[in-house]
Amino acid sequence: MRLVKKSPCKVNLILNILGKRADGFHELETVMQPVNLGDEMTFERAGTGLQLTCSNPELPTDSKNLVHRAATAFFAAAKISDGVKIHLQKNLPLAGGIGGGSANAAVTFAALNELFGSPLPRGTLHELAAALGSDVPFFLYDKPALATGRGEKVQPLENFPALIGKAFFLVHPGFGISTPWSYQNLARFPAAMNGKKGRAAEIVSKLQAGDWPAAAGGFYNSLEAPAFDKFPVLELYQDFLRENGALVSLMSGSGSTTFAIMENSAAADALGEKFKSQFGDNGWTATVRI
Ligand code: C5P
Repeated sequence: MRLVKKSPCKVNLILNILGKRADGFHELETVMQPVNLGDEMTFERAGTGLQLTCSNPELPTDSKNLVHRAATAFFAAAKISDGVKIHLQKNLPLAGGIGGGSANAAVTFAALNELFGSPLPRGTLHELAAALGSDVPFFLYDKPALATGRGEKVQPLENFPALIGKAFFLVHPGFGISTPWSYQNLARFPAAMNGKKGRAAEIVSKLQAGDWPAAAGGFYNSLEAPAFDKFPVLELYQDFLRENGALVSLMSGSGSTTFAIMENSAAADALGEKFKSQFGDNGWTATVRI
């Protein structure tokens, strides 16, 4: 049997960091919105051991790869010694703040569980996912979510009425930002590091109520502080997007991907064209309906 799975991505509508914890991670509250763009993964039972291949030569295929680590953790927890062949067709940018690698790991857990007759309950998959990365559990649910803790405590939500029909324009500038770098440098921005608790729940209630004007004022990302300091071009992108009709523009996760929300797909496509004629076509851009 061969399984073919789409591995999606996300943007953070708000990423509000509340402070640094004793374990070195940061306590946060975030709202994550699935984005229907992604990589493609194929899974096939074969021989013994794990054979991982990837279309992007920049990605290691050994135990440094999150897919490799997810598969290894799955086999250990399920006590399975059969083999599997996994191929990752990488379409999304790396180190982009849109959770591409985290989604690959979550899809690996879900697909292997399906391929081997569901040996692990959802709770175990969630635990394994959280051990691999703070954003990985979110991708087990395929829904918008409010996430807390270090991001691993996920409360899935229904689609937000305020976003229906709207569209994203996303741009990755061609350079990535390392998540550990981002959090380390946040320490230089105390106001951004110690956000006020409750902002994520506030934007959720406005998005759920369909109150777009109220919700639009709540988009925020604490990690823009270190990112803009080192990469001012990201702030320039946002100014340009807003000047050209973006209802909202924000960096996703630890960056570098920036997104704009537009009234509809046609407006997002038009914004994309304007963006490329201003800044050139060297990074990665996409438009997608919400
Ligand atoms: O959990 P994840 O692998 O995505 O985290 C990567 C790094 O980002 C962590 O090692 C930590 O330095 C930082 N991080 C953090 N607080 C979080 C999530 C990540 O400090 N809530």
